[in-house]
Amino acid sequence: MATSLSSELKKIYYQHPNLVRFHTALVVDKHLCIVMELVANGSLRIMLKNEGGNLDYKIRLNICKGIAKGINYLHTAYSTHLVHRDIKTDNVLLTEDYTAKICDFGLGKILCQKFNSETVITSHICGTEAYLPPEALQGKVSRRLDIYSYGVVLLEILSGKSPLYNGSEKCRFLVGLFHLHYNHNRTAFPIDETANWPNDYKRGLMELAKWCLKTKYRKRPLMNQVGSKNSLIIIRNNFPCCASYIIKALILHLPR
Ligand SMILES: Nc1ncnc2c1ncn2[C@@H]1O[C@H](COP(=O)(O)OP(=O)(O)O)[C@@H](O)[C@H]1O
Ligand SMILES: [Mg+2]
Repeated sequence: MATSLSSELKKIYYQHPNLVRFHTALVVDKHLCIVMELVANGSLRIMLKNEGGNLDYKIRLNICKGIAKGINYLHTAYSTHLVHRDIKTDNVLLTEDYTAKICDFGLGKILCQKFNSETVITSHICGTEAYLPPEALQGKVSRRLDIYSYGVVLLEILSGKSPLYNGSEKCRFLVGLFHLHYNHNRTAFPIDETANWPNDYKRGLMELAKWCLKTKYRKRPLMNQVGSKNSLIIIRNNFPCCASYIIKALILHLPR
């Protein structure tokens, strides 16, 4: 945690209900410390691992929506875009009422719209392998990098599995299993049935994950589009989650 403190400090002006709130920074015994809100339920990864059964589908959908809103804020709140670069369930904390809060901005990269830098190339590749899209391995950073990672998080929330889970197939990660399932129909994707997912929601989230996990980054949505899709899944409780309908509804904008 300590190595990325100074980098985190630069981002303290980003304040949103779905981001961990920074209170202050101080030096104690020559150590730089940041004080932030304590988020009672710890990380989403631990929660899925230990108590997945207590997280029903409504809570999980709300978590998906909260993460989307937090990322959308980082991507759009200022004239510069902040790409988090390490979106993963370890970096999503849950409050007592299971509101999602993104933490750990140490790897965040600010992209400057003014210079039209939608995408930048870095020589320093970082992040967490199981959550990284193909272009990140060539040092390419854009907001769509976070979208891909968000797609992996959706798979974890749907399945309750770790992103390193590979089932019985010869693929390294959960995302590989998902592609085998979706694109080649070669294997079943494990769904955490303890969440009591209604079929429409399952299908809707799988479609959303598929979109976020497109190999070509330009084909992935931006987060305001994802957010609309999430809101729609949540609000339209009884509406069949047909992908084409949801995609048409992308004109809705994500409320902050
Ligand atoms: N504000 C917080 N409230 C509760 N737990 C936290 C908080 N910040 C971090 N943690 C716990 O510490 C872990 C690591 O924190 P993080 O900020 O992601 O640092 P690192 O750089 O080590 O990944 C998190 O996954 C979470 O379990
Ligand atoms: Mg972390």
